[in-house]
Amino acid sequence: MRGLTRRTFLAGASAAAAGVTVGPWVLRSMAQGAPVKIGLVLPYTGVYAVLGESITQGMELVFARENWTVAGRKVEMIKEDDEMKPPVGIRKTEKLIDGDNVDILTGPVHSGILMGMRDKVHNSKTILIVSNAGADAISRERCSRWIFRTSFSNWQPNQPMGGWVAKNVAKDVFITAPNYQAGKDQLGAFKETFVPAGGKLVGEDYPKLGETDYAPYLTKIKQSGAKAVYAFFSGTDAVNFVKQYDDFGLKQSIKLTGAGFLTEPDVLPAQGKSALGVITGHFYTPQLDSPTNRKFVTDFKAKFNNKTPDGFACQGYDTAEVIVRALKAVSGNTRDKDRLVDAIAKVEFDSPRGRFRFDPKTHNVIQPFIYVREVKEVSGGLDNVPIDKIANVTDPGTGCTLPA
Ligand code: PHB
Repeated sequence: MRGLTRRTFLAGASAAAAGVTVGPWVLRSMAQGAPVKIGLVLPYTGVYAVLGESITQGMELVFARENWTVAGRKVEMIKEDDEMKPPVGIRKTEKLIDGDNVDILTGPVHSGILMGMRDKVHNSKTILIVSNAGADAISRERCSRWIFRTSFSNWQPNQPMGGWVAKNVAKDVFITAPNYQAGKDQLGAFKETFVPAGGKLVGEDYPKLGETDYAPYLTKIKQSGAKAVYAFFSGTDAVNFVKQYDDFGLKQSIKLTGAGFLTEPDVLPAQGKSALGVITGHFYTPQLDSPTNRKFVTDFKAKFNNKTPDGFACQGYDTAEVIVRALKAVSGNTRDKDRLVDAIAKVEFDSPRGRFRFDPKTHNVIQPFIYVREVKEVSGGLDNVPIDKIANVTDPGTGCTLPA
């Protein structure tokens, strides 16, 4: 009962008197001053390892600013590598919930892992703040009162791009993405506006997640008669696809476009000049000219060895910012989960991406803007320079009653 104050002890005692079973771990976590435990389920190995690292760093930047103490409670991050494997991600989720008794969970990166975690999180009433995985269903038929998302739904960066590409790039387009839920969601959202805008799909292909040789796919693209390609790849898949696209000689004749993850700063240095001219849609670019973003870029670079923050780092930053603000709003009380959920839903602040707020219907972030960006040379190397933008992009999830 180390650190247990009289007040929290009495609260526990009256819960026990009311017939509620209170284990020693509950009493411990009720103690004022006990650390707030935040469990991270992220990939630290595999295709998306760089994403996991950026998200973690974005969170660390915010918690370090708060001296790792919020509303009188220490903040403790417990990191688990999901290895990009759904069964591992689910096992780590169970360990964090049942073994570590975390107050808040965050992650994952992979949509399949999110779908696998969802019931455990929902049934145990654990607060999950999704810091990447975009599975659309989590803002729609699989939504939960206990789940928020600070990153994006897969629909968000892609739906505005369909009409934009048809109007401004080409009508004959080949689309491609890894063969799993995020790939299907993202290209599905692109098609929603591409086809009604007069676009014609000349081909569609789904290489496996973690493919290293895109030659057979690039051959198909070349033979398809496409005038442009729209692609979603991320992490090392994005590096390999963009480099091989250039090596294959397609870059000059068939314009490469896609979801922003294709050319984020986590992969741009490895892609080098093969990424020049690629056009993508995303909610963030380090090029955004606002005081909050300028400070974010400066502080992030100073803390992490001159690394340029990417959208994933912004997602981590926003996740931690939401946690800090909600904890302050409830004076550090993580016991009353309903109150904490209500506090999280109300958080609003200036993020590096713009004004951050959740859609009350879905608990998914409303993107202040989706920027159409082009990879250009800027001072300091290559970056995604905004060339157009679409405001207030809200996932179409409606009518979710967020059942308890
Ligand atoms: C996902 O699996 O939802 C996912 C993964 C990587 C990204 C975006 C979405 O860059």
